[in-house]
Parts: sequence; C-alpha cells; structure tokens
Amino acid sequence: MNVTLLMAITINGFVAGQDDDTEWVKDIDALYKMTAEAGVAIMGKRTYDECVKYNAFPYKGALNIVMTHDKTLLTKSTDDVIFTDATPQGALQLLEQKGFDHALVIGGGNINGSFLKAGLINEIILDIHPMVMAKGIHLFEGDFPYQQLELMSFTKINDDLLQVKYRVKNNYENS
Ligand SMILES: NC(=O)c1ccc[n+]([C@@H]2O[C@H](COP(=O)([O-])OP(=O)(O)OC[C@H]3O[C@@H](n4cnc5c(N)ncnc54)[C@H](OP(=O)(O)O)[C@@H]3O)[C@@H](O)[C@H]2O)c1
Repeated sequence: MNVTLLMAITINGFVAGQDDDTEWVKDIDALYKMTAEAGVAIMGKRTYDECVKYNAFPYKGALNIVMTHDKTLLTKSTDDVIFTDATPQGALQLLEQKGFDHALVIGGGNINGSFLKAGLINEIILDIHPMVMAKGIHLFEGDFPYQQLELMSFTKINDDLLQVKYRVKNNYENS
C-alpha cells in the first residue's frame, strides 16, 4: 500500500491555528482534485468534524475513511464513508481488502502522527503557506522517532504557495 500525506501548512509547521482556524488555507480545489484522483481519503475525527462544519464532507469521488472511537458514528458507515476504530495498520488492511493500493492521509495532526509513528507514510506533499502562527495544531502531533526524508520536488504553485514533495526513507536509527 502506497500512502501519501497531503497537507497545507504554515512555514513553521502548523496545519491549524488556535480554535482550529484554517481560513488561511488556499488552493482547496487542488486538494479536492488530488483526493478524487487518489480515490481514498483517510482523516481523523476532529478533521471530520471541521469538514462537516464547513459542508465539505464527504470528499467527493473518494472513499472517506474516518478514524474514530465514537460509538454512534461507528454504526453510520455508508458506501462512500467508513467510520472505523481500527489502528492505522488496520485501516490500510481494510483498504487492501477492498482492492486499493494507494491512499491519501489528509490530517489532522494526530492522525498524521499516528501514521508516521507506525512507519506507514511513503510520501509527504506539503502546500506551504506564507504565514507563521504561534499556537495551533502541528503537522505531526504525538511522539515518533526521527524520520529521514528525501526531497523529490518543489513547485511554485502561484505567488503565495510552494508545494514540496518528500519521500520518507526510513526511521532514523537509534532515535
Ligand atoms: N491544513 C490542513 O491541510 C489540514 C488538513 C486536515 C485537518 N486540518 C485541521 O487539523 C485539525 C484537527 O487535527 P487534530 O490533530 O486535532 O485531530 P485529527 O487528527 O483530525 O483527529 C484526531 C482524532 O481522531 C480519532 N482517532 C482515531 N484513531 C486515532 C489514532 N490512531 N490516532 C489518533 N487519533 C485517532 C480520535 O478521536 P476519537 O475521540 O473519536 O477517537 C482523535 O481525537 C482541525 O483544525 C482541522 O481543520 C488541517
């Protein structure tokens, strides 16, 4: 299974500001397009809540996987939305059983951190936004070993956005 993490970040590594502020995120349509191309979007419960708040759920053209322990939501899966309390490995096994060989992880910080810690992310694509903030949610939350990345490409999307792609090489030994 090939797993790509796709996120919009500030230059100091936040994916949301205080009170889950993501009003600063641009180029959302490109993010939706990439999600539809991938066919699968994996997100955490808090990201799901934010998407619902902005009427942006489910991501169209993709199977939406929402990772949660919410017992009510776990009974509400449909053809294009699966609520699951599986581990990150378990979620990917579920997708493999359905015939998928590629998935996008689309946040937030806690889900990203869980997948990174489990060594399950192969590629990281970041849309770097020209701003800094003092507080908020980091690209990767939680605890995980050092990771070595390889820079694959960088593209100036427009006057504001830089898109950077990395390959995750391996966990840094002895960290
Ligand atoms: N800038 C961007 O591109 C971008 C993209 C996505 C999200 N965001 C923002 O990121 C924020 C949400 O990030 P977040 O880190 O607070 O939440 P999150 O990662 O979206 O969700 C975390 C929740 O997922 C559930 N969960 C289930 N299995 C888990 C596991 N193995 N590891 C971790 N969590 C698991 C838990 O909820 P239960 O209590 O249900 O178990 C947990 O509280 C929002 O503000 C959102 O708008 C930004």
